[in-house]
Amino acid sequence: MTLQIKSLKQYKSVYKKSVKDPEGFWAEQAETFQWQKKWDTTLEWDFKEPSVKWFKGGKLNITENCLDRHLKDRGDQAAIIWEPNNPEEAAITYTYKELHAEVCKFANALRANGIKKGDRICFYMPMVPELAIGVLACARIGAIHSVVFAGFSATALADRIKDASCKMVICSDYNSRGTKNIPVKAVVDDALKQGCKSIETVIVHKNTGGKIKWNKKDKWWHEVMKRRRSTCKPATMDAEDMLFILYTSGSTGKPKGVVHTCGGYMVYTCFSFKNVFQYKEGDVYWCTADIGWITGHSYIVYGPLLAGATTMMFEGVPTYPDAGRFWQICEKHKVNQFYTAPTAIRALMAKGDEFVEGYDLSDLKVIGSVGEPINEEAWHWYNEKVGKGNAPIVDTWWQTETGGIMITPLPGITDTKPCYASYPMPGIQPVLVNAEGKEVKGNDVEGLLCIKFPWPSMIRTTYGDHERCRQVYFSAFENMYFTGDGCRRDEEGRLRIIGRVDDVINVSGHRMGTAEVENAINEHAGVIESAVVGYPHDIKGQGIFAYIIAQEGIKDNAAFEKGVRATVTKVIGPIAKPDKILIVPGLPKTRSGKIMRRLLRKIASGDASNLGDTSTLLNPEVVNAIRKAAGV
Ligand code: WTA
Repeated sequence: MTLQIKSLKQYKSVYKKSVKDPEGFWAEQAETFQWQKKWDTTLEWDFKEPSVKWFKGGKLNITENCLDRHLKDRGDQAAIIWEPNNPEEAAITYTYKELHAEVCKFANALRANGIKKGDRICFYMPMVPELAIGVLACARIGAIHSVVFAGFSATALADRIKDASCKMVICSDYNSRGTKNIPVKAVVDDALKQGCKSIETVIVHKNTGGKIKWNKKDKWWHEVMKRRRSTCKPATMDAEDMLFILYTSGSTGKPKGVVHTCGGYMVYTCFSFKNVFQYKEGDVYWCTADIGWITGHSYIVYGPLLAGATTMMFEGVPTYPDAGRFWQICEKHKVNQFYTAPTAIRALMAKGDEFVEGYDLSDLKVIGSVGEPINEEAWHWYNEKVGKGNAPIVDTWWQTETGGIMITPLPGITDTKPCYASYPMPGIQPVLVNAEGKEVKGNDVEGLLCIKFPWPSMIRTTYGDHERCRQVYFSAFENMYFTGDGCRRDEEGRLRIIGRVDDVINVSGHRMGTAEVENAINEHAGVIESAVVGYPHDIKGQGIFAYIIAQEGIKDNAAFEKGVRATVTKVIGPIAKPDKILIVPGLPKTRSGKIMRRLLRKIASGDASNLGDTSTLLNPEVVNAIRKAAGV
């Protein structure tokens, strides 16, 4: 069984060992899984390339570890409990036996539809059990899944399908969220009109049964599932074969496809799940994330199922039918571990305490936070109103690229402090460095957060562009993985993530590249140039502030702004819509033509004091004009 740390003393000794002998430590953890063939070498690495190989020569199938190996002992235990959007509808449970059968059936259906090991399959689905079944079915036969969050636009979806040359898209007809019935299949239809030539088949899951257009390549999920065998021989995968691609935004250019591989990802997601949530036999665990993001991959699907847990999936939104829905679900299913994002906590906090107070949350043992810094006020509210002071908060820091939780308190084991992700997981070696790459040692210091040794679930490459992976993560500092985050170490050695130091903004826990949003804005007629920055937002953490130079002669500013938002929605999706738009006569630029974002960030935050020396700008006069337009 995968190690579960029980005490502070044990954490300290395990950590020490994991750093002294990482290979020995991870080999011991890996032994607890089912391998078709044992690995030859535990780790080979070179961050210069970068090349990282864990458990080289090992053969496995991750779904044998998620499903088959649990059948004997917990075949009748709930693997997935699905709670629908409509609270009047019954929840659906899949036991491990049932989930195994469904995954095998769909895996056979994929094979019957021409899918082979190594093919890429795109998912564009709401939070329905079929999404989890679908990704596991891919893993079963060695196909590579690329899940695209169903809030992205047709253009964004098409870009991702094309980048990975996906052979198939799997979608639903509609997505029910709150009172809305959002078309999903129609977006796929639209994406396929944008030149996704590699797509051979579209599989459509009937969710609401609403009307859709039917095309030549379309097949119903329930049709392809008919008469399929409920067993399926798992593909033999190399430990370093690709398991999935997940697109995420960076500071420049288009989103990149982060690649994770089978062996290391399996070992680390299971290990971190068991330790961070202190999951015990019989517990009900619920993570509210969407499987369209890494949190859903690692901590709704793979981590919990590898650990033989009962994992919940929720179709709806936190505010439907009212702001008590999360707590009603926790009470109803006697949830023991609850994992959500600060933006949800802040939104619910703003609705008032009456929505949480009526519910019995006494089963909660651990409550978690992920995706963005949690502010002190939200931390205390979460602790008092949800955890009732009895359920430690695990403020978990990690990234799409890290695959699993890297820095976090261990509940009931290490201490907690508001806003601090605190301590590294075993095997994780964080360091703070200054701009020159020199390690900042000691306590009560700040620096750029890097990781100086490989861990099993780390990014291996960016799909189709290995050089980009090297550039972004491994070129800034020698022999280190650079996270893009700033970090503070307090007097006692706890770590606090301060936020991104690059041009990535984090809106409601969603990562967005400023360049990506600017490119979308610039597609709008009448836009000459734009600059996008983040600014502090009470609920979303960061909001998007867009400065736009517009063509002369725009008469109706409100209509123009509305048009800009519509264009961004079309190019990326509603999550990237600017919260504030300011039409300006120019943008502050350095003599080499670079936009001075620092100035724009200050003005966006409503603080124009201390703008520093602006006389070296190419166009210093523009600063006052912008201030005037912004009213600061
Ligand atoms: C931020 C989400 C502060 C950080 C799992 C990171 C956090 C980015 C925390 C990754 C946290 C994530 N405290 N900031 N506990 N967790 N972040 O790839 O800036 O969607 O680099 O992965 O979110 O976002 P991603």
